[in-house]
Amino acid sequence: MKFDAQDCELVFKKQLTNTIYDLRLKNKSLAEITKPGQFVQILVPSKTLRRPISVCDVENDTIRLVFEIRGEGTQILSETKVGEFINIIAPLGNGFDIAPDKKTIFIGGGIGVPPMLYSAKQCGKNATVINGFRNQKAVILEEDFKSFAGNVIITTDDGSYGIHGFVTQPLQEYIKNADMVCACGPMPMLKNISKIAKENNIPCQISLEQRMACGVGACLGCAVAVLDENGSQTYKHVCKDGPVFNSEEVVF
Ligand SMILES: Cc1cc2nc3c(=O)[nH]c(=O)nc-3n(C[C@H](O)[C@H](O)[C@H](O)COP(=O)(O)OP(=O)(O)OC[C@H]3O[C@@H](n4cnc5c(N)ncnc54)[C@H](O)[C@@H]3O)c2cc1C
Ligand code: FES
Repeated sequence: MKFDAQDCELVFKKQLTNTIYDLRLKNKSLAEITKPGQFVQILVPSKTLRRPISVCDVENDTIRLVFEIRGEGTQILSETKVGEFINIIAPLGNGFDIAPDKKTIFIGGGIGVPPMLYSAKQCGKNATVINGFRNQKAVILEEDFKSFAGNVIITTDDGSYGIHGFVTQPLQEYIKNADMVCACGPMPMLKNISKIAKENNIPCQISLEQRMACGVGACLGCAVAVLDENGSQTYKHVCKDGPVFNSEEVVF
């Protein structure tokens, strides 16, 4: 398969917290074909390997990306100025399979929150959103979710905002009326969400974050252990087969 790299103008930039940035890249044709849960591979000046960042939202011919500075690549990316161009390969991967008329719980943990915005938007008032953060200072995108979702619940690990505790606490209550769960965040969180979904017999899709190199299925660098249809362990690629997987298929 051929993947085209495209230069996109940075048309909006905002710092959301000390370390988290909100960027909007203009590209009508990419915006039209990008689906919730997909990601882009960003070329960062002076770095050979592209950096994978999830699509946070698609609006007015722009692709919105919200990312945290973790190392040199994301630091350089955060220094891009409005009017400059960013080279991306997009859209990549398989996103969430969303039924807008189903009552769906969208769960984000930390920097796993951004990809849930465009995903939850598809369900509008049928979306219940549960987003978990370390503390109040880390809370992002709350008003964005509130602008369309039926219900938005925030949890913080230290209780400084919203419910004191983890996303799994409100999930135990809201899952009783849900048809589907979609989640993105740290592996221990995804493991516990998957367990609760299984106990309640509710289908659950999870988006995995794995260290990547090529991002297009060519280097085998992002393997994740999964179960095949016979229940035997095998491997899939997060970049090509995911990043979204059926939770029952993933070996935690
Ligand atoms: C499918 C997917 C979607 C993602 N979406 C987001 C998002 O929406 N927002 C966000 O803040 N972060 C996201 N990440 C994580 C983000 O890609 C890393 O934080 C980023 O690549 C770190 O690059 P760096 O140069 O700053 O760090 P460094 O540690 O210096 O990076 C060194 C190398 O490791 C790779 N790497 C490091 N951490 C990760 C990681 N967690 N995942 C994949 N590769 C990594 C880098 O791409 C680079 O090649 C996503 C990762 C994946 C796989
Ligand atoms: S990152 Fe190369 S195969 Fe997935």
